[in-house]
Amino acid sequence: GIELGKLLAQAGYITYDPGFVNTGATSSAITYIDGEQGILRYRGYPIEQLAQRSTFIEVSYLLIYGELPTKQQLEDFTSKISRHTLLHEDLKRFFDGFPRDAHPMPVLSSAVSALSTFYQDSLDPADTDNVELSTIRLLAKVPTIAAYAYKKSIGQPFLYPDNSLGLVENFLRMTFGLPAEPYEIDPAMAKALDLLFILHADHEQNCSTSTVRLVGSSEANLFASISAGIMALFGPLHGGANSAVLEMLERIKADGGDVDTFVNRVKNKEAGVRLMGFGHRVYKNYDPRAKIIKQTADEILSKIAGGDELLDIAKRLEERALSDDYFIERKLYPNVDFYTGLIYRAMGFPTQFFTVLFALGRLPGWIAHWREMMQDPATKIGRPRQIYTGEKERDYKPLSER
Ligand code: ACO
Repeated sequence: GIELGKLLAQAGYITYDPGFVNTGATSSAITYIDGEQGILRYRGYPIEQLAQRSTFIEVSYLLIYGELPTKQQLEDFTSKISRHTLLHEDLKRFFDGFPRDAHPMPVLSSAVSALSTFYQDSLDPADTDNVELSTIRLLAKVPTIAAYAYKKSIGQPFLYPDNSLGLVENFLRMTFGLPAEPYEIDPAMAKALDLLFILHADHEQNCSTSTVRLVGSSEANLFASISAGIMALFGPLHGGANSAVLEMLERIKADGGDVDTFVNRVKNKEAGVRLMGFGHRVYKNYDPRAKIIKQTADEILSKIAGGDELLDIAKRLEERALSDDYFIERKLYPNVDFYTGLIYRAMGFPTQFFTVLFALGRLPGWIAHWREMMQDPATKIGRPRQIYTGEKERDYKPLSER
């Protein structure tokens, strides 16, 4: 395939493939997906095994370095991350400049972009020591930035990280804790969030990861590339879908919980009405991540919130859609986002914040792809072609003749 692609390019052929449905932009050894069978593996390990037995920090190591860490490697990695969680005091002042009701995704992206200004040693992507340092800085500081974006939106003071805590626990404390008040971490909530981060950690050449690679292919540094990836994730057809699902479920609830009427509106293709959290470019079968989340949603929701009416609507919606020809013919199944919003909501996160949680989970995947690309001798600057459909050559007319 790779050789044929090169030959066609040399012969001057252009592949017209809107949305890159059928274009392999790179080779990669990180994540394997079989969309027909509903299989997902990180570095060869089935997602089901990682979800059940691993942790987000271990999965981050696996994605970035290619192997599961030894005990010593995991300890070193964890302690390096916990030593870099603080934000520079000047970077903290950035948050004052944003409006109180700012969406946390652009706040997150801006602050990550600003890391390039605080750590100018990161500007050379060929300097492997600094790439390593930027990797640790990102894994450590992005949860702090995310927590501060939340605190800013509700007008509460920022909490310094507590480095005796694990990554997820620290994030929960900085998000929901208050200064001078002990914050008791709910282990069920921490475990659930850790699981959701594992499930979001990588998904090969999705829109945001492809963005990270495209920006990075110009040799832009890791912070700049990931800041762009965060903005790609912002869109409602990508990471923004988890918020959109919850808004959809709320609307159905407000209309009396009538899923039939809603499904009919989707089938009639009413403008802007899609079954959010359904369908996927690659999965033409049940998304394996959604399967795991659905299995645990009941348990998590009953532990954290004591049941949920929106979960009941979601389940009825899924059942209705999966038995309907419209969805069967188009192979539309629930994707990872269908149930996550309900869990995030039960944990106490506002809807706007859901996509930030997706970004926290996807971060190690973005880093792994950027690093893989930089080490790959086959990497070239990303530069797609086009089919020109504009005017043929014409002569310039002076203003008086137009
Ligand atoms: N609801 C209703 N119809 C749908 C949906 C949906 N959620 N998704 C696809 N379709 C229909 C389309 O209308 C189209 O039908 P048609 O041939 O009659 O016009 C057919 O299924 C194929 O859809 P495309 O839009 O061509 O599929 P594509 O691969 O381009 O889009 C996408 C994939 C963007 C995920 C789409 O399914 C969608 O919009 N889903 C809702 C948003 C969502 O949940 N996004 C999260 C994706 S997962 C992630 O980022 C983690």
